[in-house]
Amino acid sequence: MEKRINVTRSLLPPFEEYIEEIRPMWESHWLTNMGEKHQKLERELSKYFQVPNVSLMSNGHMALELSLQALGLKPGGQVITTPFTFASTTHAIVRNNLEPVFCDISPADFTMDTAKLEELVTDKTVAILPVHVYGNICNVEEISRIAAKYGLKVIYDAAHAFGETYRGVGIGNFGDASMFSFHATKVFHTIEGGAVCYGDADFGLKLYRLKNFGIRNEEVVDGVGANAKMNEFQAAMGLCNLRHVEKEIEKRRQVAEYYRERLHGVDGLRLNLRQEGVTSNYAYFPIIVEKEKFGVSRDEVCQKLREHGVYARKYFYPLTNGFACYKGRFDAGMTPIAWKISQQVLTLPLYGELGEPELSQICSIILGLKK
Ligand SMILES: Cc1ncc(COP(=O)(O)O)c(C=O)c1O
Repeated sequence: MEKRINVTRSLLPPFEEYIEEIRPMWESHWLTNMGEKHQKLERELSKYFQVPNVSLMSNGHMALELSLQALGLKPGGQVITTPFTFASTTHAIVRNNLEPVFCDISPADFTMDTAKLEELVTDKTVAILPVHVYGNICNVEEISRIAAKYGLKVIYDAAHAFGETYRGVGIGNFGDASMFSFHATKVFHTIEGGAVCYGDADFGLKLYRLKNFGIRNEEVVDGVGANAKMNEFQAAMGLCNLRHVEKEIEKRRQVAEYYRERLHGVDGLRLNLRQEGVTSNYAYFPIIVEKEKFGVSRDEVCQKLREHGVYARKYFYPLTNGFACYKGRFDAGMTPIAWKISQQVLTLPLYGELGEPELSQICSIILGLKK
């Protein structure tokens, strides 16, 4: 049995570094409730992201759910989004008593196809929630234009886009808010965690209260909030990981380049495109397996890799509008490009420490299947 290779491996700082970071808590006994580490990480991330404000959350999902709530959208309003994403994006809309309307994706970069966006706007539309899938940046100019034309709010699911810039601008600056995930499987993590980047101070205040039960002050609770506070141990992990993330991204770049070199130009295998003007964080390495040309299907490639202990992921499959919990409510057939890509996509293992012998083995297994 060969060593198991997962799709990712969580980055960890040197053990001693983390211990030093949490040591002061044994003096202060301050473990959560927006303590020193929480505040420091917010400051450091707003510098790193080049954004005016960052609000830390217990996880990315709560960051998204509470951002939608803080915008005060009309209940029952429609939110245009895409189904080629993680469960969180669609669930956050539904759990806010809003109605997702699914726009198809671009086959080139898997983000919202803005040529199909405007026709979905109705008098019930209140917001657009696009996803920077795999760190591929959405057509932010066109989304802003359409949002301005119809007076819609825009929240980006930027869970995959940590630290990226578009034409020199931090990606968290687009739209009314952008949500980032700092889950353990992400390029940068705080074990569990997330953040919202935003510009408007009123929105920030609402968000701050909503992540702490809607408490305004000791005697007044005037919001129906949740508990989404990032605790001090999480923030300490973030402070440590932030010191190492640049190095990790550079190592990931080298892994991605290795894949590109070995897998490009193979009939029936399509690699993620490089987007002009975007500094990539190399979060994922998706490949599209076109059975008609490659000779075997995505599922067969995935299965063969598993037989060798390589756990690539069918990410994203199934589409969120095909989930069992939404049966009878949405129809995955309405987004045919997303449906097709979800049948063909496979995300290959990618993390800084993935060595050349493993990479070579993964590529050889895939190329050996070509018919
Ligand atoms: C596209 C997308 N949106 C939202 C989330 C939710 O983030 P979290 O897992 O931090 O709650 C994730 C993460 O896993 C994601 O990949």
